[in-house]
Amino acid sequence: MLTRHRVVFQDAADLSFLDAASVDLVLTSPPYPMIGMWDKSFGRRDRRIASALREGDGGRAFRLMHEALDGVWREAHRVLRPGGFACIVIGDAVRSLRGRFALFPNHARILQALLELGFTPLPAILWRKQTNAPNKFMGSGMYPAGAYVTLEHEHILIARKGGPRNFPTIEEKRRRRESALFWEERNGWYSDVWFDLKGTRQDRLSTGGRNRSGAFPFELAYRLICMHTIRGDTVLDPFLGTGTTLRAAAAAGRNSVGCEIDKALRAEIFADPAGWLPAARRRAASRLEAHRAFVEARRAAGKPPQHVSRRYGFPVVTRQESELWIPLPASARREAEDLWVVSYDTPPDLCPGASPPAAGTAPPARRPGAAAAPRPLRSASQRG
Ligand SMILES: C[S@@+](CC[C@H](N)C(=O)[O-])C[C@H]1O[C@@H](n2cnc3c(N)ncnc32)[C@H](O)[C@@H]1O
Repeated sequence: MLTRHRVVFQDAADLSFLDAASVDLVLTSPPYPMIGMWDKSFGRRDRRIASALREGDGGRAFRLMHEALDGVWREAHRVLRPGGFACIVIGDAVRSLRGRFALFPNHARILQALLELGFTPLPAILWRKQTNAPNKFMGSGMYPAGAYVTLEHEHILIARKGGPRNFPTIEEKRRRRESALFWEERNGWYSDVWFDLKGTRQDRLSTGGRNRSGAFPFELAYRLICMHTIRGDTVLDPFLGTGTTLRAAAAAGRNSVGCEIDKALRAEIFADPAGWLPAARRRAASRLEAHRAFVEARRAAGKPPQHVSRRYGFPVVTRQESELWIPLPASARREAEDLWVVSYDTPPDLCPGASPPAAGTAPPARRPGAAAAPRPLRSASQRG
């Protein structure tokens, strides 16, 4: 299996290099309006923004910055397939202008833009970040009626183009079954508040300099991709930045297309795969290790899972997990200046089993019986 990861260095307001309905997920984090580090970038696009900021007219600057982003959301809607998802990571801004402290609700403004484009809004995730400065007060300190709540979260907006996606072919249905999540992953990942991202081991999968680049954590992108696409799908990030979405898509066995206006980021996006590929592989493989630990804990608690993985031989909680396969990235080569091609280990064989459960149905009744012995993970040197 191969996946392809292409980057186009240009303004994302024009995605005409992509056909309509050609992308399965848009996952991105735009430059945040009214956050100081993006002032210059917005000001370069529209001189009225720079003058609104100079004049301390926050409301006008906020409106113009969002108007600059609106064209990208329009393009995102065009290139998404029906039933495809958009996941947009965005923080609100707080800022004092003309001596007045105010919130600029970026997430509400972007959600409104998505609604106007015809997206179907879906329950969102609050990404609760651990603060680096819990005692940094905003406003009047200990005195009430003038102190402000500290913003310690960002929003992950989730919307869909139209209704639920169809999986019409036998091949798509199979890829969907193979892309199932483990039951215990599903329980955590579909929570509406994510507390646990800061502690994730990131290696070189995300840039350490979030303050410098606005990069989001690799784990955030990896989860959202696994939750909203199936293996072999294509993920678009119109504001690619340092390339976190590209590396997460590669780790998950999905294709990706990125758009980035700043050519200086090419060196970071196309960094030597020896630096990021082993970490991407470790993250994918860690899902199998975490599942084995989960099974052991369930056994110790006297509640062993009752179904069996037909690829790995270990027990799983539901029959929907029985064909699950986690692609393990094995190598990456730069096939053209702005194109990575990633190859993967050969999947473990699918042992014969019961016919697959219908999608959208509740997990069927458990099948009693002992699970087969877990199969060891194949190493890179064993790949076919
Ligand atoms: C918040 S950062 C994205 C960070 C990214 N998620 C990562 O993990 O590195 C926004 C990126 O959008 C880029 N950008 C800003 N305006 C753009 C535009 N109109 N078209 C394409 N890229 C743009 C910026 O250069 C910046 O790299």
